[in-house]
Amino acid sequence: MGALRLVQGQREELLQALCLGGSVEGLESVMDLLLAWGLLAWEDYQGLSVPGQALSSRVRGLLDLVCIKGESACGLLLAACSRVFPEARRAALSLGGCEPPQEGGEAGPMPAAQALRSRRPLLVRSLRRGISAALRALLQSGDFTTCDCEEVQLLLYTPSQQARRLLDLVQSKGESAATILLQHIQKSEGSPSAPEKEEHPAECLLYQKKLKSSLSAQSHFLSTYGGMGNLSLDDIYTEALLEVAQGSGEAQQPLGLEDILGQAGTLNEEADTVLVSGEAGCGKSTMLQRLLQLWARGAALQDYLFLFSFNCRQLSAEEREVSLRDLLFTQCCWPDRGQDTIFQYILDHPHKVLFTFDGVDEFRLGFSDVHRVCCPTQCAPVPMLLFNLLQGSLMKGMRKVATSRPVAVTPALKKYLRKEVLLKGFSTEGIDCFIRKHHGNPSVANHVLEALQSNTALFCLCHIPVFCWIVSQCSGELLGGGRSPQTTTDIYLMVLQHFFQRCSSSRARLGSDWVQERVGTVMRLGRVAMGGLRSSCFVFSGAELQRYGVTEEDICTGFLIHTKDHSSPESRHYEFRHVTMQCFFAALFIVLNNDIGSSTIQSLFYPQHQQESVLAKVCFGPCLSAGSPKRGAQEAERLNLEITATFVCGLLSQRHRKLLLQACPAPTLDRKCRQVVRALSKGMQRHFKSIPQPIQGEKKSMHAMPEFVWLIKCIYEMQDVAVAKDALARLEVEHLKLTYCNIGPVECTALAYVLQHLRTSVGLQLDNNSVADVGVEQLLPCLEICHSIYLRHNNISDEGIRKLIDKAIQCENLQKIGLFNNKLTDACTKYFAELLKRKQHFLSLRLGNNYLTAEGAEQLAEGLRSNRSLQFLGLWGNKVRDRGAVALAQALQDSPSLVWLSLVDNGIGNAGACALAELIRSSKTLEDLWLTKNCITREGVEYLLRALEENTTVKSVWLRGNELSPEEVEEVIQRDSRVVF
Ligand SMILES: Nc1ncnc2c1ncn2[C@@H]1O[C@H](COP(=O)(O)OP(=O)(O)OP(=O)(O)O)[C@@H](O)[C@H]1O
Ligand SMILES: [Mg+2]
Repeated sequence: MGALRLVQGQREELLQALCLGGSVEGLESVMDLLLAWGLLAWEDYQGLSVPGQALSSRVRGLLDLVCIKGESACGLLLAACSRVFPEARRAALSLGGCEPPQEGGEAGPMPAAQALRSRRPLLVRSLRRGISAALRALLQSGDFTTCDCEEVQLLLYTPSQQARRLLDLVQSKGESAATILLQHIQKSEGSPSAPEKEEHPAECLLYQKKLKSSLSAQSHFLSTYGGMGNLSLDDIYTEALLEVAQGSGEAQQPLGLEDILGQAGTLNEEADTVLVSGEAGCGKSTMLQRLLQLWARGAALQDYLFLFSFNCRQLSAEEREVSLRDLLFTQCCWPDRGQDTIFQYILDHPHKVLFTFDGVDEFRLGFSDVHRVCCPTQCAPVPMLLFNLLQGSLMKGMRKVATSRPVAVTPALKKYLRKEVLLKGFSTEGIDCFIRKHHGNPSVANHVLEALQSNTALFCLCHIPVFCWIVSQCSGELLGGGRSPQTTTDIYLMVLQHFFQRCSSSRARLGSDWVQERVGTVMRLGRVAMGGLRSSCFVFSGAELQRYGVTEEDICTGFLIHTKDHSSPESRHYEFRHVTMQCFFAALFIVLNNDIGSSTIQSLFYPQHQQESVLAKVCFGPCLSAGSPKRGAQEAERLNLEITATFVCGLLSQRHRKLLLQACPAPTLDRKCRQVVRALSKGMQRHFKSIPQPIQGEKKSMHAMPEFVWLIKCIYEMQDVAVAKDALARLEVEHLKLTYCNIGPVECTALAYVLQHLRTSVGLQLDNNSVADVGVEQLLPCLEICHSIYLRHNNISDEGIRKLIDKAIQCENLQKIGLFNNKLTDACTKYFAELLKRKQHFLSLRLGNNYLTAEGAEQLAEGLRSNRSLQFLGLWGNKVRDRGAVALAQALQDSPSLVWLSLVDNGIGNAGACALAELIRSSKTLEDLWLTKNCITREGVEYLLRALEENTTVKSVWLRGNELSPEEVEEVIQRDSRVVF
């Protein structure tokens, strides 16, 4: 079939494939190729890259354009898709066999601007590693201004997008800028068109081949799918949200998979270890598996000749002392020949070697840098070797990627990190994409998605991939009627039932007494689970399972799976399908076992007071060989116990009582429920007691620790309003601070459920979390009790604002909103304008570091004009420029309340300054005006100085970082001391 007909016939499929996951990367990579091949003229490209245009409209635009251009254009589009799409996506489409034009075939030298276009795909790859250096070169040559640099480095863009914006801007500046950029790239990397071919010893290449094929095989399937259907990682892998950790000083920035090893977010150039941290089940192991797979098939990280991957869960079972050489060759991949040459090559070329360590938190020992091992042939205990590798005393210069849950990232480890990247689970588009991949049948996928849309609590849970997997796995149960899950316990009970149903001999649905029927299996697996958690043991040998009385039939239920690549192949080893499943079985054991007394429950809720022996004695007796008490890593252990405790709360909720009564007498359940409620209440009291008495004149404020969020989640799991009310009964606080607490949509659901029962209104400060639009929606029920809400750094976009403001307008108490550093654009300013018009007691609006321009400022001005109460307006770090400043200043001229206005770093020049001078002249209330980092010259400052002569309320006008010479600064300060530099 001709290419044109293929494009037209598969329009819908191509649209979906190019929009998959909501990421623009696919479309932009295709456009890079089409530009390079000359199919897209520069004007075509610009027409398809209008800022703010929805991804789907851009893709439609491209499809229309190539169809108009005809047969050969369609052929090139299909060839580009075939290069860009991963195998699974390619397989689902018919892309024809059109060959792209020969690259580098152009004869003779070409103008630099044209070279930028024809080498674009290569240049994007090369620039993403060194954006800052390229910008410096362009700044130095005078081709770029600081404003240009800022535009390129907008944090909204991934490094690849930044590279494209850079190329686009250079293109628009002309030949001189293009020449500078090409020279810079050639200098830093050698000629981009002819990368140097490195020679490697033949033994190394052979070894690499073996390593790649072994990694390829290992990474083909995901363990959660083991023995269930035949979905491979390729089929199911969905991009999750990756961000630079906030501590780096660089604000949130989305990253692609390969950017983990890129420059973005680097804290310490001298360190080798990149840490990917994320909560349980958010996809750390899967992401690493994908990275290995891409390397093995030559699709990523090809700068590394060798990649050695380790699973800390398995490493920690190694009790022998080993050397680095053993670690690589025995534990990872054995070289069939030339061991010495290969090892020497590795030692001589550390930058060619990449290590990955999955689940550093699962290591039996916490990270320590006390013992040094510097010699690669010296034998040492495995933990010591690992820690020395991570800190760089062993094999300095060799890059390492480690994953861990955040709790185990101790200050001792942080010291040695090159950078930290946060994995935040699926985005809303990611959930959609995952569910469609999981269900080949689109109609089932649509039904599951509809079910999620009608249950926002469940939808929020699906942002965590492991929960999303369960929900997809249990679609039959989900769609089969009955109560829709609200809590994590609900979905784990659903998966419990699902697995029992799967292995049930009769095809008929399980009877309503299924718990009673299966209680033996539940208790045996529960005992193993609990025993393992208490000793940080996640891998069990067949012999250990036998000692616990676990039967073949128990194993066949599918909750346990064979461990991949375990070092002792002579005996089978098992692990739970996911560690959260191990926690769930442990919780079932605690709730259903008659012998569990109050001390066990106490030790679950007061980890710091636990006596080492209590749980161990009750749960495992002499069974577990690996169960010797361990030192360190308590933080990670605590996290698993916290997850277990959350499940215990859920299981003891009234909602599941009928089910559990099948396996446990009512008095036992009642007793445990009372104990848990008491423990929760005491836990909250401990927090409240820690609130210091307020200093006179200040608000009574509580800074919650992460444990507070866990307690809130436990209360939510119980789904009992009385428990929520009781837990908050003694909380008297005016300001509740929950910053840096890893709060995502799931936590927002729980917080709103509990906090809405506060008896007095609070300021709720949720800065530096991952609330996002979905989380904002979940928070709405508790907005009524907030007098202020702060959501700085939370990945919130215009859609979240629409919902927030809709509700905020109805909330009597609410007077302050802080949204610094989110993803707000001009599309949301109309909502704020409405809020300002409708709420005449509103005090403070802070929208700094977003993406507002003059247009947004003009819309905001509409609201400001009719507001009589606003005192603080913060727009720091937007780009309202002169036009926006004029609109704002005019709208605020009649404000009877404005005290503080910040327009720092907004590209404002003299015209803006002139309008702001009028504001100074007319305002009777304004005290502070912040205009730092703009482009005002001495002329603009003169307007401000003259206005100040007529104003007595203004205390300071901040002007540092504008375009004044040191002499002018000196002279201005002399004129009016209220002007501050
Ligand atoms: N990117 C992804 N695409 C598709 N499925 C995913 C993805 N990430 C995670 N999953 C699903 O969620 C399950 C759990 O993810 P994973 O084991 O990677 O989480 P984790 O962060 O390593 O958890 P833990 O902290 O317990 O080690 C996977 O087995 C898989 O089924
Ligand atoms: Mg993991």
